[in-house]
Amino acid sequence: MFMAGAKDYDEIALKCVPYHDAFFGTVLDFIFPEDKKILELACGTGILTEMIAGKCPGADISCVDSDGSMIEKAGEKPALSGVRFIEGDMRDCSGSGYDAVVITQAIFFIDDSDRKILVAKIRDMLKEGGRFISGDMFVPGTEFEKELYKKNWIDLMLSNGLSLSEAENMIAPLDDFCGKNTIESFSSELKKAGFSRVIVPYRSGYYGVVVGYK
Ligand SMILES: C[S@@+](CC[C@H](N)C(=O)[O-])C[C@H]1O[C@@H](n2cnc3c(N)ncnc32)[C@H](O)[C@@H]1O
Repeated sequence: MFMAGAKDYDEIALKCVPYHDAFFGTVLDFIFPEDKKILELACGTGILTEMIAGKCPGADISCVDSDGSMIEKAGEKPALSGVRFIEGDMRDCSGSGYDAVVITQAIFFIDDSDRKILVAKIRDMLKEGGRFISGDMFVPGTEFEKELYKKNWIDLMLSNGLSLSEAENMIAPLDDFCGKNTIESFSSELKKAGFSRVIVPYRSGYYGVVVGYK
């Protein structure tokens, strides 16, 4: 998933994301059919975007990703013909009055200080009562959990047909990427940025979903 190019991304992602129905399903639980304005950051090839577009057919949906080939692949999907795709850095996102801003599997690409700035910016971009939904990887609190979750994750990828080296390469950069960002520290960052409620409706291994309400 981390290393997959645009061409093979969709196929590989579904083999690599543990319990992907539960993970993406929980993210989607916080996006409502009545939402009018939605921004997805780091949309990749539009796996989640397709789910959002299916649930919110009348919404104004914008997506940002810094990789032109991922955006191109997303833009080719017929179900996403009404979505606005923008090639750019999520840190430069802009706009206001969003009902929901959502990101999956990408917050770890930006460093701690930029993430804090981005979280505060997202809060400002939401309308009152709007939601920031972040479905991502977070570093577990103990070495015991790290080893256990990595082993479980590799076993899952092997059972989905990846070779051992493919599975190991997939998660090799994980701890570097996640840094010190635990689900608890990220939730605190959202509270410090002024989100009135912060909840964690899903957590499994390295994966978690954090929702901040403006
Ligand atoms: C692992 S993929 C996740 C894609 C999609 N959100 C999903 O869950 O399938 C990470 C995506 O983040 C994008 N990305 C990484 N850094 C970014 C940045 N600074 N701004 C925008 N997109 C970024 C990559 O181009 C890639 O498409």
